[in-house]
Amino acid sequence: MFCVAIDGPAAAGKGTISRAVAQHFGFAHLDTGLLYRAVGAKTMAGVPAIKAALALMPGDLDNPDLRGPEVAQAASKVAVIPEVRAALVDFQRAFARRSGGAVMDGRDIGTVICPRAEAKLFVTASAEVRAKRRFQELAAKGLANSLDEVLVDVKARDDRDMNRAEAPLRPADDAVLIDTSELNIQEAVDMAIHVVTERGAG
Ligand code: C5P
Repeated sequence: MFCVAIDGPAAAGKGTISRAVAQHFGFAHLDTGLLYRAVGAKTMAGVPAIKAALALMPGDLDNPDLRGPEVAQAASKVAVIPEVRAALVDFQRAFARRSGGAVMDGRDIGTVICPRAEAKLFVTASAEVRAKRRFQELAAKGLANSLDEVLVDVKARDDRDMNRAEAPLRPADDAVLIDTSELNIQEAVDMAIHVVTERGAG
């Protein structure tokens, strides 16, 4: 059992780093943002948020539409509701304790979900760099509007995620900070693998 907790704001590179770390060590990976996105998507279809969170099934996560910017905003709105967060805790903790090792990325993994994770990373970058990356990612899928709009979206989500009362986005005291603003993917991944190795994985 080995849990790697990777937290940070939207589009800082958590997903890419998490997948690479999971692959390197042979661990399973859970993108916990997908849980909130799946609940957010259900609210867009008219289901009340708490009801949607309580009824969430693993199959609900396999929906490519969850990646879009409207769902991201809906996700960060349902994520402020304490009952929604509570409904998703058991699934996340069970995943963290799986025997083959786990990498989990999100906003509150190192602080709330796995406070005793063997390795904790906080991956961040400037809002402008993150918006630019997210814009390129969305544009490639034909989902983006303009860079300015993406920047406004990223900042609105940062604000909601950092200032909510329940499980706000912040680095755990024992997290290692990786600022990816000036790093390429390989450099960021190498740094993360180094930290996780030092914590005893592999
Ligand atoms: O990581 P992603 O951008 O997919 O997350 C979507 C939203 O879900 C975030 O803006 C945040 O509000 C919420 N979230 C959360 N806690 C997590 C993961 C995501 O509150 N562990």
